[in-house]
Amino acid sequence: MTVCEYKPGLEGIPAAQSSISYVDGKQGILEYRGIRIEELAQKGTFLESSFLLIWGKLPTKEELTAFQTDIIYHRRVKYRIRDMMKCFPETGHPMDALQTSAAALGLFYSRRALDNPEYIREAVVRLLAKIPTMVAAFSQMRKGNDPVKPNDDLDYAANFLYMLTEREPDPLAARIFDVCLTLHAEHTINASTFSAMVTASTLTDPYAVIASAVGTLAGPLHGGANEEVISMLAEIGTRENVRPYVENCLEKKMKIMGFGHRVYKVKDPRATILQNLAEQLFEKTGYDKYYELAVELERVVEEKLGHKGIYANVDFYSGLVYRKLGIPTDLFTPVFAIARVAGWLAHWKEQLGVNRIFRPTQVYLGPREAPYIPIEER
Ligand code: CMC
Repeated sequence: MTVCEYKPGLEGIPAAQSSISYVDGKQGILEYRGIRIEELAQKGTFLESSFLLIWGKLPTKEELTAFQTDIIYHRRVKYRIRDMMKCFPETGHPMDALQTSAAALGLFYSRRALDNPEYIREAVVRLLAKIPTMVAAFSQMRKGNDPVKPNDDLDYAANFLYMLTEREPDPLAARIFDVCLTLHAEHTINASTFSAMVTASTLTDPYAVIASAVGTLAGPLHGGANEEVISMLAEIGTRENVRPYVENCLEKKMKIMGFGHRVYKVKDPRATILQNLAEQLFEKTGYDKYYELAVELERVVEEKLGHKGIYANVDFYSGLVYRKLGIPTDLFTPVFAIARVAGWLAHWKEQLGVNRIFRPTQVYLGPREAPYIPIEER
């Protein structure tokens, strides 16, 4: 075995072989199972992409109907889980609430039959079905409301917005939200996916796999940038402040939120799709200050940083869209999690098929053969 050089953050080190998604950062290409994200976003639905990611092929009409029906059937969450969630502090972060609730599912569906295809299918359906219900339930309960029951007549995206707002969403809003979910469903081996894979490799249950991935996504270096885009736009405040804000950040070597990507050195293809969606949404519901600031900010950042390969990433426009859809800012990362469950489950399944427990090595830097000093002499 060749001994590899240590790379902090495992940057550039292949940690798995996968056929789930592909990214070409120089050309701005993202594919799920070989299909371009632009096509999936334009022609498909989130559940269709989820099926594709998890089961490796696009579903037939019958398969998709059965999958959607199963998910509708499993959307409700046991009253004991709802009761448990009622005890969560209303000031707690929704990602912590989600991680706890996802882990709690393991208490109720604990059979760990990983070699049984029916168990795998049920776990996939349960997690895709119940995670949005739990996110919306916490959002209602922290305001002192009862959770809104899932509406069986609404599809996946529309039902989530309904549970959140108690109003049936406008079809354009529901469609745009569905596309946002498709765009966030999978993105190769990032931190939360790697976390899911490491947990999966111990052959624990899928609820623990998803709970650990949610915990990893919660960190500000991973899932939280779209929240920060909104606070940054609020801080900028006016169009005239955009250029001085950017110049000040560059002078002080501060990152401008929603720009740059470890992999993409051109504009993130998801940002381009989201920008078009944002335009459609704002055209229908009215342009606001945030949108105008965002367009100006993107123009100035491209002018100043385009030569370094720094362009808008997926988080730049997603925050604007979510805000316009009436989603509270601290639910942006849980919404990311709702979508990414599809990718995590795909990697869980792939990991089970080729499993070897993750056990990397380390470069030890500490002392050796150190003496034990009795406590009274320390
Ligand atoms: N604003 C200003 N300068 C930037 C930015 C930015 N957003 N991103 C990178 N740079 C500069 C950075 O200062 C450095 O300049 P120099 O070479 O002169 O020192 C150069 O570009 C390389 O930056 P880096 O931090 O080494 O690049 P990275 O690949 O490690 O970081 C990143 C990628 C996404 C962490 C970073 O671009 C960043 O912090 N962006 C803002 C936060 C953000 O929007 N995060 C969401 C990422 S997309 C979601 C996902 O797919 O998971």
